[in-house]
Amino acid sequence: MILKTMIKMDSKNLLYEGKAKSVFQGENPDEVIIDFRDDMTAGDGARKESMGQKGYINSVICAKIFETLEAEGVKTQLIELCEPCVMKAKKLDMIPIEVIVRNIATGSIIRKFPFEDKAPFNPPLIQMDFKDDEFHDPMLNDAIAIALKIASKEDLDTLRELALKVNDVMSRMFKDIGIILVDFKIEFGKDKDGNIILGDEISPDSCRLWDAETLDMLDKELFRQGKDDEVIDAYEEVFNRLLTEEDKKKWGI
Ligand SMILES: Nc1ncnc2c1ncn2[C@@H]1O[C@H](COP(=O)(O)OP(=O)(O)OP(=O)(O)O)[C@@H](O)[C@H]1O
Ligand SMILES: [Mg+2]
Repeated sequence: MILKTMIKMDSKNLLYEGKAKSVFQGENPDEVIIDFRDDMTAGDGARKESMGQKGYINSVICAKIFETLEAEGVKTQLIELCEPCVMKAKKLDMIPIEVIVRNIATGSIIRKFPFEDKAPFNPPLIQMDFKDDEFHDPMLNDAIAIALKIASKEDLDTLRELALKVNDVMSRMFKDIGIILVDFKIEFGKDKDGNIILGDEISPDSCRLWDAETLDMLDKELFRQGKDDEVIDAYEEVFNRLLTEEDKKKWGI
């Protein structure tokens, strides 16, 4: 496959193959090409399926969200969505922390702590997990992150500040299209000058999204619950509500 960018997505350029995306070296040393694949996993990769069109849908949703965040002053990895599935991005030295922001209590947080199901968090709850499959992504605190030398106290404060800003922008964005942003996970990395930049992806794979009227799930939770046949319709619903005609024209959709 030869892209518009003329970067061959072959094993020679492959830097990292994750569970849902493949990261290739870009033409420029400071750039990567991220291929959003259709693979979907749950339970630390224990269950894996290919979900038709998932990579396409997620890459476009992610580009739309990153563009909106940029316009609101949040620095993201996005350089350009070359074509659906293929994002040209700044190459980052990733910080192995999953920053989770929760607006409503659900999922693992109510299994681990006595929060009432669906209770709102006001202010939003910020959780940081150590991104390491071998250790099953355990929850961090500042002292552990600093002792692991994965982030400084200053970095951790920056991550929290940026996560809240991302939450504000995204909560508004989804509210406008009748969707509740329940919670989400983001990852950050440092660029060559040491600036902390939002990386990886934001998509229905990494967010919990509920229809504001019906509270129907529109995210990966459907897959975790084994409702595989509902996943793509839900992702498409988010895509259709989020994308304007102008966006579609721009990305040739
Ligand atoms: N801009 C970037 N520069 C360099 N690496 C990146 C960038 N954005 C994301 N990454 C890394 O690329 C990988 C993307 O892979 P992917 O998300 O498919 O799998 P994973 O993170 O290993 O597993 P999972 O997300 O399922 O826990 C991740 O390791 C992520 O941290
Ligand atoms: Mg990932």
